[in-house]
Amino acid sequence: MSFDPVALRRDFPIFDRTIRDGRRLVYLDSGATSQKPQAVMDAEIDFYRHHNAAVHRGAHQLAEEATDIYEGARLTVAEFLNAEEDEVIFTKSATESLNLVAYAMGNAKVGNRFHLTAGDGIVVTEMEHHANLIPWQQLAERTGALLTWFEVTPEGRLDLSNINSVINEKTKVVALTHQSNVLGTINPLEAIVKRAHEVGAVVVLDACQSVPHMAVDVKALDIDFLAFSGHKALGPTGVGVFWGRGSLLEELPPFLTGGSMIENVTMTGATWAPAPRKFEAGVPNMAQAAGLAAALKYLNAVGLENIHNHEIELTTYLLNKFADIENLRIVGPNNIESRGGSISFTFGDIHPHDLGQFLDSQGIAVRTGHHCAWPLNRKMGVPATTRASLYLYNTHEDCDALVQGILDAEKYFGR
Ligand code: ALA
Repeated sequence: MSFDPVALRRDFPIFDRTIRDGRRLVYLDSGATSQKPQAVMDAEIDFYRHHNAAVHRGAHQLAEEATDIYEGARLTVAEFLNAEEDEVIFTKSATESLNLVAYAMGNAKVGNRFHLTAGDGIVVTEMEHHANLIPWQQLAERTGALLTWFEVTPEGRLDLSNINSVINEKTKVVALTHQSNVLGTINPLEAIVKRAHEVGAVVVLDACQSVPHMAVDVKALDIDFLAFSGHKALGPTGVGVFWGRGSLLEELPPFLTGGSMIENVTMTGATWAPAPRKFEAGVPNMAQAAGLAAALKYLNAVGLENIHNHEIELTTYLLNKFADIENLRIVGPNNIESRGGSISFTFGDIHPHDLGQFLDSQGIAVRTGHHCAWPLNRKMGVPATTRASLYLYNTHEDCDALVQGILDAEKYFGR
């Protein structure tokens, strides 16, 4: 498939509608959630219409078909990440995936490699969104482990100058984002993973903002755990992925317990099925997994490299345009090096919420606020920003509309 964002938009029914009195929809909020192609909606409807049954349990044809679709979706995710099939766990969201791994570690007993106590260290970064910060704060509180972090430079990059002291012999977990949802920064994983493994720590990668936008290969990255959400990757809401290195999943205790995740149960105890079932208690989100598989197949057909290159082109275009707007401050790297298509900014003394509302009146959807990354906003010295986040269906026309909208806002607010 040759890459043509205008043609791709036709696969997304939402772009057929207009917004705010007949205006063209300029959707620049894919960092919050992506729009869905028809193929994803069809896959979900097809599951309910033709195959609906509880997977892994019924002795009938529908249950067999549902199981095939659900396990087929697992295989699609595994291939997408270059992972093994039984290393892929479906959750309801990336937030649940990150809570899963943090809570599971908290359940580890003495002797288990994930058992943390006072004196152990958990390392995060200042650019985490709340979903990859609070679960680790809570784990530290429950176990007595010490939470430390890499700081962010004024440009919006990780300060790794003290990597050997931040990740040290006491560190057991390093949890960080691949690409910042606010700054757009793509983090240099190689050095961090190398140092973490040198001291025997595991690396948990929050890939919410990378998996939808570029090829992510868990083997090449040499990470240990990864989380991403379906809805940011063209998939439905209500489905996320937790991936873990097979040997580590064997040792990681479960998070949620109940049906499907057991091997044997007595009145006083239970033993666990092997992964992935150990981490999938209850009847899972089957239709949503089917939708996610359709989304990943769609991304594959378009080509992750094409998508990444397209986003680089549009991001460069917007960064150049923004550089010419007086009083516009980009919060994050202002050059394309190791950055993706989330561009946060402030504009003079116009509050981001006012700017967002004005842009909305022009049919332009952006996100405003702290973007679920409050500590990062404080560090960057801004209470809030306006964020434009790009995806495969965005065009130069969308970028021009945003730039014009910002200039019009300046006049509207009398600045
Ligand atoms: N979903 C959040 C965002 O919009 C974190 O970036």
